[in-house]
Amino acid sequence: MPTNLEPYWMPFTANRQFKANPRLLTGAKDMHYTTADGRQILDGTAGLWCVNAGHSRPKIVEAIQKQVAHLDYAPPFQMGHPGAFELAEKLVHMMPGGHFDHVFYGNSGSEAVESALKIAIAYHRVRGEGSRVRLIGRERGYHGVGFGGISVGGIGANRKFFGSLLPGVDHLPHTHNLEQNAFTRGQPQWGTHLADELERIINLHDASTIAAVIVEPVAGSTGVLIPPVGYLERLRAICDQYNILLIFDEVITGFGRLGASFAIEYFGVIPDMITVAKGITNGTVPMGAVLTRKGIYDAFMERVPENSIELFHGYTYSGHPLACAAALATLEVYQEEELFKRANELAGYWQEAIHSLNGLPHVIDIRNLGLVAGIELAPRSGQPGTRGMECLQRCYETGLLIRTTGDIIALSPPLMIQKDQIDQLVEILGGVLKEVV
Ligand SMILES: Cc1ncc(COP(=O)(O)O)c(C=O)c1O
Repeated sequence: MPTNLEPYWMPFTANRQFKANPRLLTGAKDMHYTTADGRQILDGTAGLWCVNAGHSRPKIVEAIQKQVAHLDYAPPFQMGHPGAFELAEKLVHMMPGGHFDHVFYGNSGSEAVESALKIAIAYHRVRGEGSRVRLIGRERGYHGVGFGGISVGGIGANRKFFGSLLPGVDHLPHTHNLEQNAFTRGQPQWGTHLADELERIINLHDASTIAAVIVEPVAGSTGVLIPPVGYLERLRAICDQYNILLIFDEVITGFGRLGASFAIEYFGVIPDMITVAKGITNGTVPMGAVLTRKGIYDAFMERVPENSIELFHGYTYSGHPLACAAALATLEVYQEEELFKRANELAGYWQEAIHSLNGLPHVIDIRNLGLVAGIELAPRSGQPGTRGMECLQRCYETGLLIRTTGDIIALSPPLMIQKDQIDQLVEILGGVLKEVV
């Protein structure tokens, strides 16, 4: 065990609080983590929304081990290796409706987002519409931590320390409204009209200056905001009307989280690009990707001279052999175990189990979709976030991993969760909610 925790500057963590009372995980198998003091913790969050097939699955572990012993690394610029091509083909085939035909790799959700935003601007430019440079995000959106991602993102704390960010960015309003939508099961009815704000933003800037709109189909990191019925459809219609690219950030919603392969299948709305990461490798090896709709790649191929690089963008580790091997094995596990279908079948049970927490102290909203849930607690007066953090600590001590954003608890278990484990999760969380003042 480490004797000195100090040198590690931990990300998105209250470092001093953590180091005074560390929560160290030393092992993981299927639905559970093992802690440094030898306890089993039920994973209520699939790690960080990424371990959709459960932990340390032998097929994935073996694929990574085999790959590293065989081909540890291959440069992705002007060179290739089979796994990257095989994976791209598998990914485009698993996209519903055959609308997507190319994959661009990075190493994280953040890099996928930066790549998608750059592809959007470059796409318009290569087609002779170089004035389309503006990007539209949404309040409370989370798109990772690159400058593009925090610029289109809408979480104040993630933006305010980092200067003026990207110019030419505007934001849709978020869709959260407790008066109208508290304790809705699934998609709320109220709030579809908020998509019309896009028209207002377009009128303000003129469509000829706007490259893309990016939203999470279900906002995750901000505390689980479910899109109102018809909202995503409306965004699609407006983007179509003005030739603006629509990007869905599916870093959380991709790979079965909603009980469908992707949110685009769940909602039946087809954007122009989707960004994925996390569940693509079941969290085992970092990987992110952009999937582009038919016509986007072609726009570059048709206009850039042959033998020239079409897109001056990429990473040393784009399509890394280990990540590709992990992803190929992960997709097999998803398919063999029909985990997306399983998530869909469990969604009703999950919904009722989570909503049974309604009425417990401080609970002001419960929302859910697929195998995701958000439980919003009233903040303590003058101390926002402390009630949520206390819940996290107490759940951890009692044997459950939850995630909190301020005073909102987010839950997203591996899709292999059993009904009795859902019951156990709700029992532990319910017990903690009764205790926390
Ligand atoms: C919707 C969304 N986009 C992007 C990201 C960033 O991913 P990463 O942390 O892998 O950079 C996340 C991470 O939670 C996310 O939820």
